[in-house]
Amino acid sequence: MIAGAQLPCDIAVVGLGIAGVHHLTKEVEETIRRCTKTFVADTGTGMLEYLGGLGTEVVDLTQPREVGEHRILIYRRIAAEVVAAAKAGGPVCFATYGHPTMYCYPTTLIQRAALVLNLSVTVLPGVSFLDTLLCDLGVDPGFDGLQMYEASDLVVRRRPLQADVPCVITQAPMTLDAYNRRGSRALDNLRLLQRHLLGTYPADHEVLLVTSKPHPLLEPLIQPVPLGSLAAALLPATQLGTLFIPALHRREIADRELAARMQILDGPRTARVTSGAPPSRPGRPPIGPQPA
Ligand SMILES: C[S@@+](CC[C@H](N)C(=O)[O-])C[C@H]1O[C@@H](n2cnc3c(N)ncnc32)[C@H](O)[C@@H]1O
Repeated sequence: MIAGAQLPCDIAVVGLGIAGVHHLTKEVEETIRRCTKTFVADTGTGMLEYLGGLGTEVVDLTQPREVGEHRILIYRRIAAEVVAAAKAGGPVCFATYGHPTMYCYPTTLIQRAALVLNLSVTVLPGVSFLDTLLCDLGVDPGFDGLQMYEASDLVVRRRPLQADVPCVITQAPMTLDAYNRRGSRALDNLRLLQRHLLGTYPADHEVLLVTSKPHPLLEPLIQPVPLGSLAAALLPATQLGTLFIPALHRREIADRELAARMQILDGPRTARVTSGAPPSRPGRPPIGPQPA
């Protein structure tokens, strides 16, 4: 991006990250500086004040009057406000916590409306909860893959789960609750999620409720729970909690001949692998995924 240049769009949709202003990227910050108005959906400490200091007019979208309203109506209102401001005179910015296309319906609504109204939109990434969760748990999807579902969608569609692939479930504490409520949750809804998961995993399988730190001075919260007690654990859980289900077992290699092609063969500084096991060095911990 060239300093001082005009922003090449009518609406910038940007992600602010998870841990407050420390997660703001330079790209996002530069973009916000060039927007006349920035609509902010983020409750991070000091975020509104920091963005205001960049010279943009800040509009706080997290209004308490919307508690108890259907979430879709809230998202429509947000999109309408952003698009109307862009029509009146952009460029404007919609800045949301995390990543702007990670479970963020207003982004989709803004893009759709912009298409109809001939407005141009640029979308810029932010650090999402998935990024922080992988760090908090030390998970690398390169080993066994990763499946990810939204809790209500999982239950409503009775989506099948793969027991050999780690699983991330978002919005678990709000399962089957379409309203923007604080506090009151229906245990019955949470039990429906638990029952669906028990179709794939045993009741004593330990799952994790993970809340990544929303501020650099805090620590992530990682609460282990046996799946059989999940509903009771979700009842008082923070809205931000994500459910992580470790794989029950590893999937066996189906084609050993093809797998053998991926092994390290002769090389100047590597040992020849003949056993089919991952390479190892004497006295050092094993490298790579180990057999279950
Ligand atoms: C509507 S989605 C928004 C996600 C956001 N756009 C992002 O990129 O992280 C909200 C869900 O994200 C997850 N989430 C948000 N903040 C989190 C945090 N600090 N720790 C763990 N999960 C979080 C939870 O599953 C929560 O229900």
